[in-house]
Amino acid sequence: MSGGRVRVEAPAKLNLHLAVGALADDGYHPVRTLMVALDGLSDTVDVTPAPARRVRCPGVAERHNLAWRALDALEAHIGRALGCEVEITKRIPAQAGLGGGSSDAAATLVAANRAFALGLGADVLETVAAAVGSDVAFFVRGGAQWATGRGEVLRAAASPTFHGLVAHPGGGLSTPAVYRAFDTLPAAAFPGPEPGPDLDGLLRNDLWPAARRLMPGLDDLDRALRHAGAHRTILCGSGSAMVGFFADRAAAERARSIVPGALAVVGPAAQRDLHTRWDEPSPV
Ligand code: C5P
Repeated sequence: MSGGRVRVEAPAKLNLHLAVGALADDGYHPVRTLMVALDGLSDTVDVTPAPARRVRCPGVAERHNLAWRALDALEAHIGRALGCEVEITKRIPAQAGLGGGSSDAAATLVAANRAFALGLGADVLETVAAAVGSDVAFFVRGGAQWATGRGEVLRAAASPTFHGLVAHPGGGLSTPAVYRAFDTLPAAAFPGPEPGPDLDGLLRNDLWPAARRLMPGLDDLDRALRHAGAHRTILCGSGSAMVGFFADRAAAERARSIVPGALAVVGPAAQRDLHTRWDEPSPV
């Protein structure tokens, strides 16, 4: 049967490298990306077995939430209903390219797997996750992963250490709109040169020209991060958030106090351990 409440942290992600190819017949763009789960910025997802499904998340209609669709996909896979209440505490901004909604969906799968003692391994959860969205499979595993295909074919990787400051320009960007703008602009060769292992050799985001076109204020944010001491900057995924990279944590913390829209000092997170139980007693 079912246990009590299970809490899983849902980290933000950063694409240290995002090479994008031309639009394919399936409506998606092939990518070569290094995705890194972040320490320092996460949502919290609580899953509690209950007679009927509820998904509570401020600002998102429950049936539009990727967590709802993740539960649909999980129920379809195992062939039975899983009544549960999902409570999402948001800290990752939406439409920022930080993967918040995808991470919440993956955390919901991981938490439901534990709450209902389903015993599903990472490979099964990833297959279920891939049907929910391009980035969801990545978040089931977390850590650092090279992703290809439309972003769902994963290969374990190592992230270089970095001290990043996430900053948000105030408004969001729609992923499909950024990809549509990408289609109208000259593109870099895909996949192009093999990225090197260190931060400087990795950093690339082919969606930057498209995001700047849609949100010219991103140039101001880029300048603010550099003026605050960032030696490199990058757009997060399809935007709108950006990350500046600093020499050490103290420099990133100092920049946090002066960059408008500064959100969190971040670094690479460890890989998620699917088998660690974080169960908490059920609320009375
Ligand atoms: O898979 P997901 O729902 O996250 O993708 C949202 C949209 O972003 C897709 O409908 C597509 O327009 C665009 N996309 C893309 N190529 C990718 C990933 C997403 O064109 N590799």
